[in-house]
Amino acid sequence: MSRFDCVIERELTLEFVRVTEAAAIASARCWGRGDKIAADDAAVTAMRKMFDTVNIEGTVVIGEGEMDEAPMLYIGEKVGRGKSIQLDIAVDPLEGTNIVAKGLMGAISVLAIAPKGCLLHAPDMYMEKIAAGPAAVGKISLEASVTENVKAVAKSLDKEVEDVTVVVLDRPRHQNIIDELRSIGTRIKLISDGDVSPAVATAIPGSGVDLLLGVGGAPEGVLASAALSCLGGEFQGRLWPEDENDKLRAAKLGITDINKILTMKELIKCDDVIFVATGITDGDFLKGVRYYGDTATTHTVVMRRASGTVRFIDAQHRIDKKKEFVSG
Ligand code: FBP
Repeated sequence: MSRFDCVIERELTLEFVRVTEAAAIASARCWGRGDKIAADDAAVTAMRKMFDTVNIEGTVVIGEGEMDEAPMLYIGEKVGRGKSIQLDIAVDPLEGTNIVAKGLMGAISVLAIAPKGCLLHAPDMYMEKIAAGPAAVGKISLEASVTENVKAVAKSLDKEVEDVTVVVLDRPRHQNIIDELRSIGTRIKLISDGDVSPAVATAIPGSGVDLLLGVGGAPEGVLASAALSCLGGEFQGRLWPEDENDKLRAAKLGITDINKILTMKELIKCDDVIFVATGITDGDFLKGVRYYGDTATTHTVVMRRASGTVRFIDAQHRIDKKKEFVSG
């Protein structure tokens, strides 16, 4: 594929913003209601409907699951109303279902779009991850120890180790990481769910997040690496199979060396990718949806690797004028 083939029409950028905005508005209605399935359904339905207005022939390569387990946005589903622009799409209409259900912070609606064949088809299993901003490129590695990585990030940011903030999902499987971070005095931000937003935040100046470590979903790893490749940051992933079945699923998708460290070039295989995320609840770098009568406000980041442009978009939406898209 030539460099030219790898560039996505920039006019499409705003169209994709509409897609995550719709999912975020629909899902935020379920904030704090204790029903993660309703929150997810609302986001999926709204995202699917809005995709139908976009002039692309998209194929979902990372989505809500296999065709037999997800009614919409399943892997292989075609989205968009066009026939000429073939793109691969990775979606997570609601990244952080528990966050919305429990009324917590850090849920986003997110997607990545790339020319056909560019996104790693990640199996739905765990992945060990490390993510950091541009200053740490080439200085961190999944092969290095936690302490070595934190020291490298501290040095790259001209900070003391004690002033580095590392985000870790609050899970028993991360106790070793947490213990090692505590032993060197680093700040740890433990999160309940949603590791895409903090991974991206490592490369957003002023977010207060310097490093993400730990094991989370592999599809979420591809989404995070799309953003970090636009932002010039660093992401590495290594699949973390729980059983033989996971290994088989990875092999089916062409990943035969399960222990291989997947670099950004392997996760995002060509020169262009667009990443879009709209805040559902307040997070490290995005505000959540707010409602004022018939109006909802959204905060979205959209970035494109080919140009390097990063836009933050504040929008006001008249819900009464677009009920068909945002009511879930
Ligand atoms: P949801 O699919 O419920 O939105 O959860 C997303 C997430 O928190 C990811 O951000 C993270 O990578 C993964 O789940 C962690 O998985 P687990 O909860 O099994 O540790």
